Amino acid sequence: MSNLESILTENRIFPPNPAFSARARIDSKAAYDRLVAEAEADYEGFWARLAREFVTWDTPFSTVLDAHRAPHYRWFTEGRLNASVNCIDRHLPTKANKIALIAEADDGSVRHISYQQLHDQVAQLANGLRSLGIAQGDRVIIYMPMIPEASIAMLACARIGAIHSVVFGGFSAEALRDRINDTGARLIITADGGMRGGRAVPLKAAVDKAIEAGCPSVEKVVVYERIGNACLTEGRDIAWATLTAAQPSTCPPVMVEAEHPLFLLYTSGSTGKPKGVQHSTGGFLVNACMTNAWVFDLTDDDVYWCTADVGWITGHSYVTYGPLALGVTQVMFEGIPSYPDGGRFWQMIERHKVSVFYTAPTAIRALMKLGDAIPAQYDLTSLRLLGTVGEPINPEAWMWYHRVIGAERCPIADTWWQTETGAHMIAPLPGAIATKPGSCTLPLPGIIADIVDDEGNPVGHNQGGNLVIKKPWPSMIRTIWGDDARFARSYFPEKLKGYYLAGDSARRDDDGYFWIMGRIDDVLNVSGHRLGTMEIESALVAHPKVAEAAVVGKPHEIKGEAVVAFVVCKGERPQGAEAEAMVNTLRDWVAEQIGPIAKPDDIRFGDNLPKTRSGKIMRRLLRGIAIGELPQGDVSTLENPAILEQLLGK
Ligand code: WT7
Repeated sequence: MSNLESILTENRIFPPNPAFSARARIDSKAAYDRLVAEAEADYEGFWARLAREFVTWDTPFSTVLDAHRAPHYRWFTEGRLNASVNCIDRHLPTKANKIALIAEADDGSVRHISYQQLHDQVAQLANGLRSLGIAQGDRVIIYMPMIPEASIAMLACARIGAIHSVVFGGFSAEALRDRINDTGARLIITADGGMRGGRAVPLKAAVDKAIEAGCPSVEKVVVYERIGNACLTEGRDIAWATLTAAQPSTCPPVMVEAEHPLFLLYTSGSTGKPKGVQHSTGGFLVNACMTNAWVFDLTDDDVYWCTADVGWITGHSYVTYGPLALGVTQVMFEGIPSYPDGGRFWQMIERHKVSVFYTAPTAIRALMKLGDAIPAQYDLTSLRLLGTVGEPINPEAWMWYHRVIGAERCPIADTWWQTETGAHMIAPLPGAIATKPGSCTLPLPGIIADIVDDEGNPVGHNQGGNLVIKKPWPSMIRTIWGDDARFARSYFPEKLKGYYLAGDSARRDDDGYFWIMGRIDDVLNVSGHRLGTMEIESALVAHPKVAEAAVVGKPHEIKGEAVVAFVVCKGERPQGAEAEAMVNTLRDWVAEQIGPIAKPDDIRFGDNLPKTRSGKIMRRLLRGIAIGELPQGDVSTLENPAILEQLLGK
């Protein structure tokens, strides 16, 4: 509700900065309207034009959109291409020596990697992977810190047509094992560890643990030595340096069909099992390029920095593939915003003269809390555009970002999209669209977004409803790996007339601006990371002392949402010191099962959970209890009303 209220009172509007518009690709509302009209008049023609403009094809496509197997839409069939060629080789004739990556390590040391060097390193690793028998269609797990080698590993897979699946380095060995087994990966690329906030984060140890627990498909593990602690298992593991040392620095790329999966990326849904979102090569690149060009307006002179980890979709579309495909210079950062102090981001912007900066509301809120004096110590005048992603940004944080970081000069692109959409869907084109704090503004040209009721009928202005995309777009999810039925059920439910269901609720104001209100399913958004409540419940119930668990979210000042778990233990309900110990045990347990990001902030024990007579847990009531309110309204269907007071701790 607080979200809704702040939205209702928000009527500030910021027209595009004329100086920005003057040099922007899309420089006016009229230019935006023309693109929207172009897509409306000839949808396939519009996307075909962009696909030809932004992507280099080895074999041209003739079909634009093939809907025969809808909702498994196919784009640019017959077209053949290679993603690494698009990200590297095509730039070499004109900018071999241009810096592709400015990689700043946790300790502040910096490596500069040119497009030529990137090419050579990708080729060497790709040749190395080939020498290990990895071929087109094989799955490769990448479990790496935020260092250039993470992108190099992704591009090396793409070069030989192997399908990568990056697993965020913060996920546990258990979560890693599930993903390895779901993909049936033959090979894992990892590092001995990474550095974050001055501390070594082990990665290889988790890989060893996952494989020990059972990953029958894994044949080889490639280990990049980052922290000087690589223990190699004889016969299975090989050091990155050893594998690449004698390899030539050219590697003929495999030209794959446009629909060939470029990668799988796991994300949470409303059931316990994470979904392996499958993306294509051709369509994915088209939207990745188009949005980096239009929303971030990236040009040859920009120094771009996206703070996302490659373990998330943002790191795929806005670190590895999109910016490199446009041939820009970008900063890549291994560490965290608070180390060695809360000025790190601003110091790095000054140091590397960052012009386009993309981060998450949770980071903005955390840094805002530290006050204006810290960013004031740094020269941020290189900035010309700011972006946010991952969750709704509250107007207060938006205004701070605008005023203190952007000096009221930089437009803010609040970009709404998802793992499944592959690229921005609703976001301001900064030279064209006026912004409103807290709104992701208008759909991009070619993206037909709407808000509908549960039957697929449009709702009126200012009414909440389901956010849908009415027409397929090139970078859309192709399927859930190994589960076509779940794909269709989750994203194209029958009632919705063939629309793509995003799983978010939203409303549109009188100007047609979109305001995202939250998820409609059992999915939480913690610090911009998607967590399924069922996933955390499954982890809790897997503990030998837990009989039952229910997880809900509650608003959190910095994280957006915090995880609250209601737990019924086997035997007596723990109380006092015993309950405290159990809370710690379960928090650690969840960290081990999924990863530290999923740790509940709050765990409450009860003799039971509030249930209907048919045994369904009443989460609506638990959400109230989580914020300390005894639920008002209808509790007549509740089997055991007394349980509410117990869970509330009264
Ligand atoms: C969910 C997707 C997209 C990359 C990062 C998260 C929420 C994302 C915004 C935004 C409001 C947003 C939505 C969406 N979300 N961006 N700008 N405003 N909400 O990717 O893990 O696939 O999560 O994040 O709820 O459905 P993801």
